[in-house]
Amino acid sequence: MNSLESIPPLIAHRGGAHDAPENTLEAFKKAISFGSFMCEFDVQLTQDNYLVVIHDETLDRTTSGTGRVQDLVLNKIQLLDAGSWKDSKFSGARVSTLDQVMALFLDPACQTKVNIEIKTSKNSDIASRAQNKKITEALIQWLKNLKKLDPKYYSKILISSFSPEALFLVRKNFAPSELSLGYLCFIKSWDQDFLKLKNKISAELQALSCLSLNINADALTPEHIKQIKQIQANCQVPYLLAYTVNDLKTMEYLSTQGVDGVFSDCLNIFI
Ligand code: G3P
Repeated sequence: MNSLESIPPLIAHRGGAHDAPENTLEAFKKAISFGSFMCEFDVQLTQDNYLVVIHDETLDRTTSGTGRVQDLVLNKIQLLDAGSWKDSKFSGARVSTLDQVMALFLDPACQTKVNIEIKTSKNSDIASRAQNKKITEALIQWLKNLKKLDPKYYSKILISSFSPEALFLVRKNFAPSELSLGYLCFIKSWDQDFLKLKNKISAELQALSCLSLNINADALTPEHIKQIKQIQANCQVPYLLAYTVNDLKTMEYLSTQGVDGVFSDCLNIFI
């Protein structure tokens, strides 16, 4: 059994996006120095098939470049400034590869765990679905290579996605005892979406044997939490996590209602 077994109550969302440019080495180093127990970040695939750590499908919001990540090669992407958009003091920050980021976390001196989110497109056209599969397969290959170095590295890693297809593909390659998965879901309207989605969520959670169910924190009333915890219990999912929580009061409220952990941008509030 090498899989991640426990998830801490505070997870640095995109590395702690409030204090440094999201998903950059600068953010991760800061989160590690804060004593953060887990960092979450997102992976996309470049045109030349490198996994890079960036949230959006396009470069526009968080770099000095424009266009889709999948349309540019790595060395062009790494010329872009991924820090100035946040603050001029971060100018020179770069988009990093998954390898560059993981070198920080796999250092034996680093106790911080990681949550790698497979960032898939919400579009359901053939090209978007093919790209989603390509990113997932690249991550699976990356995980297999990591296992050759040391299978125990998996005990630091949670793989999550909003795409059940991506999670099923990962699960096909790695048993629950080997690699832990987090099931991301977004409930826009509890009155409409939840009723529509709850059977699907339950069936997928059960089939995937997930370690966590990660849900959007907004609009989580005690009644909603009760309903989602019922699914958690029925599907034997050990952790219920909520994203994104940037104030102490909400974190305390969620914790008293049985939410096991939160994703947050604002590490300084909590630590
Ligand atoms: O994984 C939790 C949270 O990060 C999901 O939302 O949009 O930041 O990927 P997003």
